[in-house]
Amino acid sequence: MRLILLGMPGAGKGTQAKKICRGQSIPQISTGDILRQAVKDGTDMGTKAKDYMDKGLLVPDEVIVDIVRERLKDPDCQDGYVLDGFPRTVGQAGSLEDALGNDGIDAVLSIEVAESVVIERLGGRRTCSECSMIYHISSKTSKVDGICDQCGGALIQREDDCAETIMKRLEMYREQTEPLIRYYSERGLLHKISGEGDIDDIFGRIELALREV
Ligand code: AP5
Repeated sequence: MRLILLGMPGAGKGTQAKKICRGQSIPQISTGDILRQAVKDGTDMGTKAKDYMDKGLLVPDEVIVDIVRERLKDPDCQDGYVLDGFPRTVGQAGSLEDALGNDGIDAVLSIEVAESVVIERLGGRRTCSECSMIYHISSKTSKVDGICDQCGGALIQREDDCAETIMKRLEMYREQTEPLIRYYSERGLLHKISGEGDIDDIFGRIELALREV
């Protein structure tokens, strides 16, 4: 299964991608996680990307497209993958199509959530600094405050989850990413999934949609 997850910042792409990948034993390819790791490692690419990420802007297509193209050649991608946060622009989608061909993607899931909901979610998100597991201060807490259940890493607030940057990220989504809904709808690949309510209920909706693919 080769899937793309679309949705506003905070729609729950990462949360649902982890559940899909666990069930299907396929990798989650999160461009946000790859970029944050590069920032942490202090690579040249990370240094360049940090400026954009801190401002809530998208990293230029040419940087991100090469990263994804290389990652998809890895052996663990042979049986499928979930692209989480890529593509984010029509240009990125075109490059992906060029790289994979017309039948390269099985389905695109657009997780649909009201803006007021994502603002609350992002404000309360905590992320593991080691394994990127996702928590929330009220809807998905860890067993021990501030510590990841999965690996024992420290839970942190992402730097781009401050109010001003959240608003900029939402603006970028509306301008640059929302056109992909039409793009994939025209290709017959789009499935709209309501992303509101309980995390497991949303996952149930995704499983139902994937049965038709
Ligand atoms: P990225 O890391 O991709 O961030 P994003 O798209 O803004 O998405 P988020 O990770 O913020 O949200 P999500 O939808 O995954 O929600 P989550 O599951 O965490 O990108 C960051 C930056 O990197 C970009 O701004 C850009 O600069 C750069 N970048 C990345 N990819 C790029 C690309 N392709 N091109 C160019 N630049 C790129 O959930 C959010 C919170 O809600 C969590 O706390 C979670 O616990 C909670 N939650 C989830 N579901 C529910 C639910 N049903 N009920 C209650 N709470 C819930």
